[in-house]
Amino acid sequence: MPLVLLEEPLFLHILTQLRDERTDQVMFRKGMVRLGRLMGYKIANYLDFDYVTVRTPLGVTTRGVVIRDLDNIVIINVLRAATPLVEGLLKAFPAARQGIIAASRKEIEAPEPPKEMEIIISYEKIPRITENDVVIVADPMIATASTMLKVIEKVSKSSPKRMIIASVIASKYGVRRILERHPNVMLFTVSVDPELNSKGYIIPGLGDAGDRSFG
Ligand code: PRP
Repeated sequence: MPLVLLEEPLFLHILTQLRDERTDQVMFRKGMVRLGRLMGYKIANYLDFDYVTVRTPLGVTTRGVVIRDLDNIVIINVLRAATPLVEGLLKAFPAARQGIIAASRKEIEAPEPPKEMEIIISYEKIPRITENDVVIVADPMIATASTMLKVIEKVSKSSPKRMIIASVIASKYGVRRILERHPNVMLFTVSVDPELNSKGYIIPGLGDAGDRSFG
């Protein structure tokens, strides 16, 4: 199941606030943090776990579950829009290590929606990733997917056990592009939006997530 659509009412409620042009910077960031936390809990349900036995203070043993992957999470924060989403994900995965990639699209104005955009990567620092690690790449917006594909290429060189994308809105075109090239990647998103405009913005989208979070 490579695409996981988080369409429950609470996700959609928060997304609706994020889309609303009247939502100010503080509330926008708070919404992103909340979505990150909730999405983290959903992602946790797809991680590997073991059945274990524990002894309670009453001296009785009972069966339980330990999600062993919780200690092997690496979150990649795609600057800058992902920062509040990552803040939320870290609440679900407090032991996660964190990598940072500063990526920005070169702005264009074309007659047609772009199929590919030039991505400038100005900084990157990624912790050592092993084959036991689960990598979560966080970026709230996937438009042409040019940014995400570039990040996935970088991260997949270290062959993690699993690669997961945490996004909020992905365009139909971007989802298709990612899953065609990387069928084993799991893509979590709250909405798949139908279109891109001539500047490569997602329509209806929520505007520029970086600007709305940070001004
Ligand atoms: C936005 C967004 C993604 C990228 C998506 O970042 O946060 O990183 O565009 O577009 P793509 O799928 O077409 O690559 P932007 O380049 O605007 O930088 P910012 O986060 O600093 O605002």
